[in-house]
Amino acid sequence: MFRNYIGFIRGVAVNRLGKVGVILTTSSFVTFVLLELARLAGVFTSSYGGLITYLTLPTLFVIGLATLPIAWWRQLKQTGLTTRELIDRQFDREGTARAFYQSPLLLSILGLSAINIVFLVGASSRMLSFMDEPVFCGTACHSVMHPEWVTYQDSPHARVKCVECHVGEGVDALIDSKLNGMWQMISVTFNLYERPIPTPVQQLRPARETCEKCHWPSKFYGERIDRIVRYAKDSASTPRYTTLSLKVDTGSAPHLGGIHWHISEANQVRYTSVEDERETMIWVEVRQEDGSFKRYENRSLASVVTDQEPRVFDCVDCHNRATHIYEDPARAIDERMALGLLPRDLPYMKRVALHALTITYADSVSAMEGIENQLFGFYRREYPSVFASRAAAIDSAVGVLRDVYRRNIHHTMNVTWNAYPDHIGHARGGGCFRCHSPSLVAADGSSITTDCTVCHSFAAYDSDRAFQFMLPADTADRSYHLHEYLRSEWLRGEAR
Ligand code: HEC
Ligand code: HEC
Ligand code: HEC
Ligand code: HEC
Ligand code: HEC
Repeated sequence: MFRNYIGFIRGVAVNRLGKVGVILTTSSFVTFVLLELARLAGVFTSSYGGLITYLTLPTLFVIGLATLPIAWWRQLKQTGLTTRELIDRQFDREGTARAFYQSPLLLSILGLSAINIVFLVGASSRMLSFMDEPVFCGTACHSVMHPEWVTYQDSPHARVKCVECHVGEGVDALIDSKLNGMWQMISVTFNLYERPIPTPVQQLRPARETCEKCHWPSKFYGERIDRIVRYAKDSASTPRYTTLSLKVDTGSAPHLGGIHWHISEANQVRYTSVEDERETMIWVEVRQEDGSFKRYENRSLASVVTDQEPRVFDCVDCHNRATHIYEDPARAIDERMALGLLPRDLPYMKRVALHALTITYADSVSAMEGIENQLFGFYRREYPSVFASRAAAIDSAVGVLRDVYRRNIHHTMNVTWNAYPDHIGHARGGGCFRCHSPSLVAADGSSITTDCTVCHSFAAYDSDRAFQFMLPADTADRSYHLHEYLRSEWLRGEAR
């Protein structure tokens, strides 16, 4: 059997080019099998390895196969033999003497072709499924996807595959994404990509095909209480509370609803914006019950001509940071403090931490050193006794801040603090106020509501008590009327 195979291979390798082809096919096939076995055994899992196993090796294999007919064709031309004569010369007489369709040669060719087909189909299906793995998307191009990969792993979607949001289902989506992937490979190879990677992602599939596979509009109901703590930059890092009840429901009637009203089946909002970043709206339209659209226009931009297609408002227009969540430095510190990771009993913790994080460092190595120097230096200089007695606490604060830095700042991709906008509220950029603003006006003079309590009830606003407005109001208090209003608004909400 083996002798037959060797004989056959010798025969196929008709000249030098043929030998190259045979070596390419055989060696890539054998390496593939070995690597695949190693991968199945769990010894070999890197995504670079995956790239080699599933992309490079099958490609070499196909090139090798394609070389063979070319080698034969060249040999025929050079020697002037007929195909039959060349076959007789290359293969042993016994194999070719009989009629071709009965010959062992044909059997060998058919057998090997069958193996080739099984191999190629198997390898390409393994390749497709491997390319759907987050670890491939996140690490194959190394530094390019590093920011997205890091933020993804620390997000509520850490178990959702990249392709479930970025590609979606169906043949169209698949072809789109593979074409796009090819372009990405080229741009990575030739260093043509932008740093940071620009957003919005123009090729993102409509949210109906991605997000709504898992979260569908009728699923949103009720309100969600967010207790936000902000720490002052004083020596005690004094906490202040803002407690909001976010009205996240969809509502049922076309014009009665909460924050997810925009995406209920019955409603549609669409818009055009001045820039690709979708920050400044030119006009916003909302579908009316009779099917017509009511338009709110930014009059100061009436003369702006845009070639952009109107965009139908969907999940990603608000949740553009659903997964790649970059933190604001002050908020990142507040959240760690609220969790008890940064000790408030170290004097001026908030202020020192914020300063250490927001200095401009040349690279991450100097940032790691700089953060330590800032904290150690401050306490050694200003509070020598604290420095001596709380060395372990200061050391662990340094560790926490370094993690915050590594998670959010990516020097190789130029991702610095607040490099990406976040549309979810109105604290970081326009957010909701891109449309909920008096500058957009309809023909009847109306604007989209800016009433604070349409989106959230207040239980506290920058207060030392987290549920300030839930407590009975003091008539002597200057904010008595506001307090009473917010309390009754909240209670009305409860009754809804
Ligand atoms: C839950 C859905 C979801 C998952 C899972 C997801 N992404 Fe994203 N991704 C988004 C959204 C939404 C945006 C922002 C789109 C926009 O603003 O147009 C985005 C943006 C990006 C961008 C553009 C840069 C940026 O931050 O805006 C890259 C690159 C990217 N994602 C890569 C990945 C990779 C790699 C993975 C897997 C490791 C992944 N994504 C997983 C939803 C997702
Ligand atoms: C494959 C399923 C899946 C897809 C697709 C998906 N998500 Fe999620 N999403 C989840 C899961 C699971 C959670 C975590 C739920 C939890 O923590 O209770 C989640 C959580 C969330 C949260 C809540 C986070 C929080 O802080 O509580 C938001 C917002 C969200 N997803 C938005 C989106 C958006 C926008 C998209 C499309 C770009 C999307 N999701 C696509 C499964 C998915
Ligand atoms: C008008 C802006 C907007 C749109 C459009 C929008 N959301 Fe939200 N969504 C919010 C806000 C605001 C919250 C609450 C604050 C937060 O989660 O940070 C929220 C909360 C959520 C949550 C968490 C719900 C909970 O009870 O905690 C999920 C999941 C979610 N959205 C998914 C989606 C999906 C999927 C879509 C598209 C079908 C979508 N959202 C469209 C603004 C929006
Ligand atoms: C692209 C523009 C746009 C953006 C951005 C936007 N909205 Fe809206 N929103 C609208 C329009 C249009 C209406 C309907 C106004 C009308 O017809 O009176 C609306 C209505 C609402 C309503 C319902 C009001 C009612 O009368 O029941 C809520 C709640 C709401 N938006 C919350 C939000 C929140 C929260 C955000 C930010 C996370 C946001 N919106 C961002 C355009 C937008
Ligand atoms: C169109 C809807 C909408 C309107 C109108 C609105 N807000 Fe908000 N606001 C939000 C959303 C959504 C968030 C939560 C963002 C998040 O989850 O981070 C928020 C968050 C906040 C926060 C907390 C910010 C932080 O993280 O520290 C404050 C304070 C606030 N709003 C005040 C107001 C006030 C005051 C008004 C009235 C002038 C108002 N908002 C009007 C949607 C709205």
